[in-house]
Amino acid sequence: MITETAVLTANNEENEKILSRAAEIIRSGGLVAFPTETVYGLGASALDADAAAKIYAAKGRPSDNPLIIHLAKASDAAKYAYVTDAYEKLAGAFMPGPLTVIMKKKENIPDTVTGGLDSVAVRVPSNPAARRLIELAGVPIAAPSANLSGKPSPTSAAHVTEDLNGRVDMIIDGGSTQIGLESTIIKLDCEKPTLLRPGRVTLEQLTDLFGEVALDKAVTQKLTFGERPLAPGMKYRHYAPSAPLTLVDGTDEDFIGYVIGKSGDGVAVIACDEDKERLINAGFMPENVLTLGARADVVSHAASLFALLRTCDERNFTNLYAKLPAREGLSLALYNRIIKAAGYNVITVTRK
Ligand code: TXA
Ligand code: MG
Repeated sequence: MITETAVLTANNEENEKILSRAAEIIRSGGLVAFPTETVYGLGASALDADAAAKIYAAKGRPSDNPLIIHLAKASDAAKYAYVTDAYEKLAGAFMPGPLTVIMKKKENIPDTVTGGLDSVAVRVPSNPAARRLIELAGVPIAAPSANLSGKPSPTSAAHVTEDLNGRVDMIIDGGSTQIGLESTIIKLDCEKPTLLRPGRVTLEQLTDLFGEVALDKAVTQKLTFGERPLAPGMKYRHYAPSAPLTLVDGTDEDFIGYVIGKSGDGVAVIACDEDKERLINAGFMPENVLTLGARADVVSHAASLFALLRTCDERNFTNLYAKLPAREGLSLALYNRIIKAAGYNVITVTRK
């Protein structure tokens, strides 16, 4: 398959042509990768079981891992799911935006899309090109992240090309995604609203809205044999760089002190801007110090993480070290992604 790549620009008329062409591909059962505010998505018509099946094939994705359906507006959810007051509350507070809501599904969504589950995940992206594409397609768009299964989610069109060139009909290049981590997922078709995947919409914000929100164990902990996460996708080893990644649990000082003792040829550190000079002075090659942004700028850490994990693979490092993020706010999302990338390999360091 030849993949067409089209770049969005400041020219609205041109963009409209690109999005109309993409919408036509979606309507006729093809695959289009498109930007959202979180990560790039790999889209197909959510009403077409055969088209959805192509998504699994292109990504190499296990067929029991359901897809999120993307809508142009929050009120469209009632066509595909049994919406509740809790949904209306979430929609009012966070839609369009980086939030996915799981509810009981209606018959019109094929089993291929939901991996055979009786629930469906719904999201209204805030990226204007994504919303316009859905509008023009006239159907909900089923879209997982547009990476090969097991790779970090793509935050640029170049990442999508790296993984899916020749496997999809079209890639829409809308530049780097702002948030850089996938949407927050909350499940409503259960006793208490339950957070399945943390993201830019935080557990604290959701708790403010509902009073109480449960946290699925798979968000922070490795499940033991036989345990199942509520989001099937959370059981797969995601984002794992090819070099082993060790997370250091301790203060910033403990972390720096610990990694300085590890410096060597293939050893790389994922750190903050403020740490760079000290690590270099302690013997690290500048190219072995990868930075996520300023220490206090968690938004930048989120935006940088996935691109940085891809860089680690390109550079053939032998060992990677990073600090374990805090389990609060947006940082909980970083914690969740990086602890999976590390295969739960955490070392606790305390200064003597
Ligand atoms: O930000 C995002 O959510 C991006 C963009 C493209 O919208 N999409 C995304 O999709 O991250 P994906 O497929 O990579 O992750 C979706 C997660 C998976 O872990 C999947 O198992 C879970 O959502 N999921 C989808 N439908 C579900 C359902 N009905 N019940 C439980 N989990 C579900
Ligand atoms: Mg994904």
